[in-house]
Amino acid sequence: MIFDTHCHLNDEILYSHIDEVIENAKKTGVGKFLVVGYNKESSFLAVKIAEKYPECYAAIGFHPCDIFDITEQDYLDTMALSNHKKVVAIGEIGLDYHWVKEPEKKQLEKEYFIRQIEYANEHGLPISIHNRESNEDCLNILKEHKPKFGGVMHCYSGSVEMLKEVLDLGLMISLGGPVTFTNAKTPKEVAEEVPLDKLLLETDSPYLTPHPHRGEKNEPKYICLVLEEIARLKDLSKKHIEQVTYENALRLFKIDE
Ligand code: NI
Repeated sequence: MIFDTHCHLNDEILYSHIDEVIENAKKTGVGKFLVVGYNKESSFLAVKIAEKYPECYAAIGFHPCDIFDITEQDYLDTMALSNHKKVVAIGEIGLDYHWVKEPEKKQLEKEYFIRQIEYANEHGLPISIHNRESNEDCLNILKEHKPKFGGVMHCYSGSVEMLKEVLDLGLMISLGGPVTFTNAKTPKEVAEEVPLDKLLLETDSPYLTPHPHRGEKNEPKYICLVLEEIARLKDLSKKHIEQVTYENALRLFKIDE
């Protein structure tokens, strides 16, 4: 069984026909989904989806690009969702310097990232990390505010050299569509290097659609293409990678079966 550890079934593009999206994914071997929130509305919807579908779990929190217009009450109401039994992580949280360039805004991103790491630590939850063009600050924060219950670098886009630092922090590495891109040198090297017991699979759907479907909207059903490419790069069977990454996910998110 495959665990899609980062998908946005709470995005209108997928939510509008969620039954079909889940059914199609199941046909390709996906057995579990972590539906990841990025602001108040999407976090509440992730929990609602997790309540309705037994195979879905939720992560709640504020994406770095979604913190600028929120009230303290929005923050508190959203984080309180963490008490729900199907909320298994805080995320996606982190830094994004691709879309945000102003120093004062970057400062606010850091503050919310740290605040949410501390929240996860106080509530016994792992974190799902978004890091875009912010490697240095992201690693420094994670070193100073260690996620006590682990976490995952979602759609890891760093180098092989940085991989060691991330693993030393006790974090897992999640790989998605970019591993399949024909021009993707670094993600393929990372896939070869990452230890099997630290690897997770994801789609980040509806974004980051794997080759050869680039340009279309992404769905969890395409995770088999990510799995296939990683199996090829690691020279291991798909079945083996599927099983190990599934167990890794259950361990990180403390899901009993
Ligand atoms: Ni995402």
